Amino acid sequence: MGFVIAIDGPAASGKGTLAARLGEAFGLPVLDSGLLYRAVAKAVVGAGGALEDEEACAGAARALTLGDLSDPGLRTAAMGEAASRVAVHASVRAALIGAQRAFAAREPGAVLDGRDIGTVILPNADAKLFVTASAEARAARRWRETADRDATYEAVLADILRRDARDEGRVTAPLRRAPDAILLDTTDLSIDAAFDAARRIVEAARARSGAGTQSS
Ligand code: CDP
Repeated sequence: MGFVIAIDGPAASGKGTLAARLGEAFGLPVLDSGLLYRAVAKAVVGAGGALEDEEACAGAARALTLGDLSDPGLRTAAMGEAASRVAVHASVRAALIGAQRAFAAREPGAVLDGRDIGTVILPNADAKLFVTASAEARAARRWRETADRDATYEAVLADILRRDARDEGRVTAPLRRAPDAILLDTTDLSIDAAFDAARRIVEAARARSGAGTQSS
């Protein structure tokens, strides 16, 4: 098995950026697992279905292909919210496990980021990070990067708090730090400083796992 990095954390914590940069540094493909839930939500809404309809959502999850993940329309705030509503369904989550594990199983390994990667999807990952930041810092980042100029900072913060509560409170695979995940709080860190910290964590794990090459 290759070298596998699991990154979890709440919305806008910086885990997506860190996953992309770690993938580049260590030469590993990256799967943003949030896109899976976003794509399920988009398919259900597009077919006129309801996000509360577990059967419809599970059907969309089973029909998903990796090609569906390149749709730029998945990255909106509305799809983030809709994704967290389909993500509560146990049968949706179950339908998406195989594709995530298969992605991680290929050589030379992979980086996966999400909410339950270190706890449920890849409990034996070589390196686990739990990336977080204060809700206010996360809302400020999301607000700065949002294309929707009508959205206020307060509305973005409320959206993040609601989504955190839903993701942490659900019964199946709630957002939690795995006991062996290293906590990285990015509240007061620049992107470069957060990346340096993440890279050190991964390099230490790599030395422990006995894998050869250093990052570039
Ligand atoms: O980028 P952001 O953190 O805002 O969202 P995302 O990572 O694309 O995830 C969107 C939603 O999908 C989350 O709020 C979770 O409810 C759900 N999700 C999940 O349940 N499990 C994952 N592994 C990834 C995302």
